[in-house]
Amino acid sequence: MQTVHTVSQVREYVRGWHQKGLSVGFVPTMGNLHDGHISLIKEARARCDVVVVSIFVNPTQFGPNEDFDRYPRTLDADAAALVDAGTDLLFAPSVDEMYPLGQNQTWVDVDGLGDHLCGASREGHFRGVTTVVSKLFNIVQPDVAVFGEKDFQQLAILRRMSEELLFPIKIVGASTSRESDGLARSSRNGFLDESERTLAPQLYQALQQLKADIEAGEQDYQGLQSRYRDSLEQAGFQVDYLTVANARSLAPASADDTDLVVAVAAKLGNTRLIDNVSLAVV
Ligand code: PAJ
Repeated sequence: MQTVHTVSQVREYVRGWHQKGLSVGFVPTMGNLHDGHISLIKEARARCDVVVVSIFVNPTQFGPNEDFDRYPRTLDADAAALVDAGTDLLFAPSVDEMYPLGQNQTWVDVDGLGDHLCGASREGHFRGVTTVVSKLFNIVQPDVAVFGEKDFQQLAILRRMSEELLFPIKIVGASTSRESDGLARSSRNGFLDESERTLAPQLYQALQQLKADIEAGEQDYQGLQSRYRDSLEQAGFQVDYLTVANARSLAPASADDTDLVVAVAAKLGNTRLIDNVSLAVV
């Protein structure tokens, strides 16, 4: 595996591969890699001849009171895991390399899909994500890019962006990788203390129970949301949202919607966790 830090180095590698007719898979990350990230890299590996991974903690997707400064940065351990996963190129740029003129004046913003769920409570977050992923797509020019369903809204927004901006890139969604007790793997899980870590799997349990209720015919989504929200609050979570949404528009679901996603964001102490489950009602 080669590790590079500049845009021009990435371009040189990718130009060489494309000239040889090799397909390029890409997995953007913010590092502190866990098995969820590794499963994305394996998906890219299975689909493409070479795999590029980026590690960049992107400042523009963090709000002023969010955890940009304390976000875990573990480049050496990450590089070792990437070698094991069969990565060809690691791109780990500085903030100056990605934002060469300082404060960006150019933004990529997806209307509509960003209004709901995390977009409603993290102002400017998805604008930061779509802007940095556009930059990364322009740098790496991959054939395939893989993103996790764990970040369901992010995946939906990036699919929409890529299609509307005509990026010639196939966007692939990969299923959520979980700990043995069901907790979705996340770089933020490391912030949980012992008692929070014991509570954390209840988030996924609540989603599964709510999904089972809908599958059993329950259609009062508002009622379900407030019932499960209350029980999570009682268990010790501060719930940001718990929503049964239309899986395409991400707007709150109505009784005649068939493709649904149940999405939750909740804090344990200072740590914000998100998770979701999808379901189809017939
Ligand atoms: P990060 O949180 O590092 O996640 C990188 C990729 O890993 C995302 O596509 C995310 O959905 C996926 N991922 C995280 N946890 C996962 C899990 N448990 N199972 C499966 N996939 C998982 O998401 C970002 O970084 C950033 O917003 C980024 C897209 C890199 C833009 O800065």
